[in-house]
Amino acid sequence: ANTYLTGIKPTGDFHLGNYVGAIKPALAAALEYETYYFVADYHALNTVKDAGELRHSIRSGAATWLACGLDPERTIVYQQSKVPETFELTTILGALTPKGLMNRAHAYKAARDRNTEAGITDLDAGINMGLYNYPILMAADILVMEGTHVPVGRDQSQHIEYTADIAGYFNHRFGGSYTFPVPKGVIDQGDGSILPGTDGRKMSKSYDNHIPLFLPEAKLKKAIRRIPTDSTPVEDPKDPDGSVPVQLLGHFADAETVADVRRRLEAGGMGWGELKNELFEAVNAELGPKRERYDHLMANPSEIDEVLEAGSARGRARARPPHHRGGGGGPPPPPP
Ligand code: TYM
Repeated sequence: ANTYLTGIKPTGDFHLGNYVGAIKPALAAALEYETYYFVADYHALNTVKDAGELRHSIRSGAATWLACGLDPERTIVYQQSKVPETFELTTILGALTPKGLMNRAHAYKAARDRNTEAGITDLDAGINMGLYNYPILMAADILVMEGTHVPVGRDQSQHIEYTADIAGYFNHRFGGSYTFPVPKGVIDQGDGSILPGTDGRKMSKSYDNHIPLFLPEAKLKKAIRRIPTDSTPVEDPKDPDGSVPVQLLGHFADAETVADVRRRLEAGGMGWGELKNELFEAVNAELGPKRERYDHLMANPSEIDEVLEAGSARGRARARPPHHRGGGGGPPPPPP
């Protein structure tokens, strides 16, 4: 059976990139398949060291899943740290994973490259073991739930390949007694695989080029207005390719609207300001109702906490090794 699983890391505001790359495809899968969606709080711990801030972001992550329309009866919505079997499996997988694989991980290499660029001679300066082991923990997240399909943005594709490799090491050694399904990434192959941020690079909190998902309406309008565009006069023809607002529009407006906007830009007569208004309308139409649900949930955190508690208990029941399920670990908790 297909089991969809994905996580978001609570390190601050969730943004349009998270929505387009992971949340939206995950929501579509939730209507059809068994789904496990979680808040990866121990992954966040690598960068967030403030307990209050982390607690807020965990709630915000869960509220984001719910506000976007997940039904917590159908989807197991949970918190990574409340499924401790994940960390047990991390240790086991670590014993099978070659260190060289971790040396080649993109996030680790990027952190070392930043040190090189800054002229720091110790290339591992400022890098913690959490970052280094990140891919093994992520593999454990997926394998512990026997996830088969993982909807993510393209920036996560190496992590999914690593998970498949690590599942292979395990199955090769222990396949006689237990075999993990080897998961596949569900990654948009078009230009949606990486949503650009306001500066055209990948939208990311760490580049500070992101548009938060649930900005209040007036701030959303401002954030969209501030996307840099060139100074081509309104009446002049413009090239829609390579324009960040056009790319963003492609994910929030229907195909007809996008084609129309492209035609009008190419013909001249449509200014960047008008394009940005179109973009604001499209984003606001899709996210407005979700933002209302989000704000309601964040004002009632006990609702969020209850969903996370119940979801994490169900997640834990799934994570228990199959021969322990309903056995040594005690009976699985009743469904809510
Ligand atoms: P995170 O929290 O950085 O991002 C969450 C999801 O959003 C996607 N994403 C994007 N997609 C398209 N364009 C963008 N600009 C963009 N920015 C982010 C990411 O690809 C991701 O799918 N390691 C993961 C969290 C994680 C996880 C897991 C995911 C932990 N364990 C197990 C799947 C399965 C991460 O840091 O995502």
